[in-house]
Amino acid sequence: MTEDDLIAEQNYAAHLRSEQPVPQRGNPAFVPITPPAFGLRKTKVICSHKVTYYEDPRAGDRDSLIAWQVWPCCDALMTYAEHIEPELLRGKSVLELGSGVGLLGVAACLLGARSVLLTDIPKALPLLRYNVFEENAVHVTGKNVRVEALEWGSDKACIKHILPDKVDIIVCTDVVYDACAFLPLVKTLIDVTDYFAENHDSVPLVLVAYEKREMYPAQMFFEEMLKYFDRKVLFQGWGSMRSDLNMDTVDDTDVFRF
Ligand SMILES: C[S@@+](CC[C@H](N)C(=O)[O-])C[C@H]1O[C@@H](n2cnc3c(N)ncnc32)[C@H](O)[C@@H]1O
Repeated sequence: MTEDDLIAEQNYAAHLRSEQPVPQRGNPAFVPITPPAFGLRKTKVICSHKVTYYEDPRAGDRDSLIAWQVWPCCDALMTYAEHIEPELLRGKSVLELGSGVGLLGVAACLLGARSVLLTDIPKALPLLRYNVFEENAVHVTGKNVRVEALEWGSDKACIKHILPDKVDIIVCTDVVYDACAFLPLVKTLIDVTDYFAENHDSVPLVLVAYEKREMYPAQMFFEEMLKYFDRKVLFQGWGSMRSDLNMDTVDDTDVFRF
């Protein structure tokens, strides 16, 4: 490893440890985040474009190890949006909760979204920002894309601060897995949809891609959601489409609209 690589690695590790927001492009304090030295660089083709991204087990919360890779639900929603409902995100203002490594946000740009706000816990943001703004600059530059910290269950006033003028669609992929997290998540979904209903006279749709795992958190999440939202199943079981769409990894994922 050269001295430059070593410094780059130390900078990146400092970002990963940091609880502070990392300055964004356009801010005078912005320092490009250097490539993760030990993460794995991967490639996907989305809407005929090559998208690259790093997966890095040091990202996010070290105890839960979940913000570091692309999960099957993200693939499922991207596949749904690209192949089944290609107009789903076109011209829309998209907010994502629990963005992980950020692939869905890049896909949303490629699928014609008007603006994209990606959010996650502070510790997940360095890798998320790196993947969005450095790895995929070619796909997101000139689009209205932001990355911000948003912890589910946060005070409504804090959330309001980061929201854009309009959100048409809130996307959540693989966020229903933790029995402790579903109530704060539902609270945030209600707070955001209420905010737009009260102040902008429009209610964002909520899209949830869910992988069938343990019954308990999922059942509680869906029961809680149904107290406030109607649910429509957009896609359940991929059946024979799986081989056509090369969807081995999304076997057990469903997509819901609330
Ligand atoms: C299983 S990962 C899914 C990541 C991405 N959506 C995907 O499908 O690849 C769950 C994501 O939710 C985020 N998350 C977990 N708890 C959170 C919380 N309380 N507030 C905000 N984000 C949270 C994690 O950091 C992680 O990025």
